[in-house]
Order: sequence, then C-alpha cells, then structure tokens
Amino acid sequence: MDSIAYVNGSFVPLSEAKVSVLDRGFLFADGIYEVAAVLDGKLIDNASHLARLARSVGEISLALPESLARIEEIQKELVTRNNLVSGLVYLEVTRGADTGRDFAFPKGVKPTLILFTSAKDIVNAPSAKTGIGVITVPDIRWTRRDIKSVALLAQVLAKQAAAEAGAGEAWMIEDGKVTEGGSSSAFILTQDDVLVTRQNGSEILPGCTRKAVVALAEERQLRVEERAFTIEEALAAKEAFITSASSFVQAVVSIDGKKIANGKPGAMTDRLREIYVDFARKTAV
Ligand code: PDD
Repeated sequence: MDSIAYVNGSFVPLSEAKVSVLDRGFLFADGIYEVAAVLDGKLIDNASHLARLARSVGEISLALPESLARIEEIQKELVTRNNLVSGLVYLEVTRGADTGRDFAFPKGVKPTLILFTSAKDIVNAPSAKTGIGVITVPDIRWTRRDIKSVALLAQVLAKQAAAEAGAGEAWMIEDGKVTEGGSSSAFILTQDDVLVTRQNGSEILPGCTRKAVVALAEERQLRVEERAFTIEEALAAKEAFITSASSFVQAVVSIDGKKIANGKPGAMTDRLREIYVDFARKTAV
C-alpha cells in the first residue's frame, strides 16, 4: 500500500509526491536532510536531529519554510498516518524551484520541504547479531562534512563499493585516518578499554547517535577519547562499531576482509547497543 508523504504543506500518497525539475535540490544538491528513527511509533532523539537541521540550514543561509516545532508536528503526523511502528522519517529542505538554472540564490522563492517514512525493524536487524564487514575507501568528499547536505555522491559510490564487496559499510580514509562511515560514525574500543571516535569538526558529520553514545558511555565511567584513528589501530582493537539513526549501534567485525578480534560482535558493543535502545525508548517523543 502506498504510504503518505508530505510535500510543501500537503499530505499526499508517496507515488504522487513530486517536486519541480527546477528544484535546486535536484539541480545543485542545494539542500539539507535529516533522518530520524522511530521506535514504538515515537521519534528517537529528535531534538538532536532538529538542532542539527537548524545548524545545517544556517550554514548554507537557507531559511526553513516552517518552524522546528511545526516540522516535528509534521513528522509525528506522518508517523501516525502511516501507522509507522519502527522505521525512519526522512526530511529534506531545499532552496526551492526558481524559473531557471542560476547558481546564485534565487530571490522570493519558497524553500521546498518534503518528508516521507520507511518501515525498518532497527532493533531486531539480523546484522546486529552477526556484525558487519566494512571496506575502506578514500574520502573524496568536500571539506564541509559537518553540514548534512544532500550532495551524497561520494557516499553513494563508497556504499556501492561496499555492497559489491559484500560489506555493510564503507569507512572513508583521509590522511591515513578514518573520518567516518558512508552514512554512520565510526568507533573502536582499544585493548585497554578506551572508546575512540573522531572529534567533531568540518571533517565529519556530528552524528546524533554518536553524541548520545559518547554521553551514555561517559555516564558509565567508560573512558572516551575523541580523536582520529588508523585502520591498523582498528584492526588491533578489541571491538569496533558504527552508530547512526538507521542502525543505532552496529558491530563491525572485519575491515577489508580482515577480522577484528575473533570476528564477532564484542561484549561492550552489545552492551552499548542495549543502553542506547533503552535511552532511545525512554526519551522518545
Ligand atoms: N546518515 N556520518 C554520516 C556521513 C552520515 O550520513 C550519518 C547519518 C552519520 C550518523 O549520524 P546520526 O547518528 O545522526 O544518524 C554519520 C543517515 C542515517 C543517512 O544518510 O541515512
């Protein structure tokens, strides 16, 4: 059955949800997106996603066509209309459709706002039990990766290469260090139980799940170091995992076909996944 999407003020069947060919999201990737998870029909860590949305649009001087409060209402209404119990709400805002293709910002054009949902059983994903392999690829993205821009071609190519290699994610490498996954943040747990994930900055997207996991780990007295790490360090680690709205905490068990530890999800990763899911349920709106 066709689900319901939101397009510029209207709720419409997804198959009828359309924007103009002149939309700047389509022509220039001149837009920002967010992906929030849904569990038990409620939004997970949404305040964090909306705060990042506000920051991202601010960084590209794009004014949101609706308030953050209204956007959350729309997210909730879509979840309800689609009877979504577990899955994702996708949101995209672009600089709208002008009358032609001019690079500079158009004047008097209303931004485009679209949302749709997809069902996904994130908690019971089989990969959470088995772990995933990752491959490494050069990070060929632009230098403002802190902005959640819809310009995702580098990630599309990275994740396609991962899919072709039978891997679940691609870790992108710059100057010999891991930046992040194609659509996730990267973590390792060292042999002396230090959780390591790259510090925020323009080299990576500030992951909402990453932020929550770091805080939850620190609350439990786990040592966290926010710094870049190499693949050699990751291969010598006790455990590795990725975080994202679409996977929560997902064990990584190999890199480029080489096993990490015994090639099985680690105990700390499993524990952090449980802790995160618990936090997610308790703070859902
Ligand atoms: N991706 N890094 C990148 C490059 C990402 O695209 C994402 C999220 C993350 C994790 O961020 P968060 O924990 O806030 O989801 C890190 C989303 C899920 C996507 O593109 O589908």
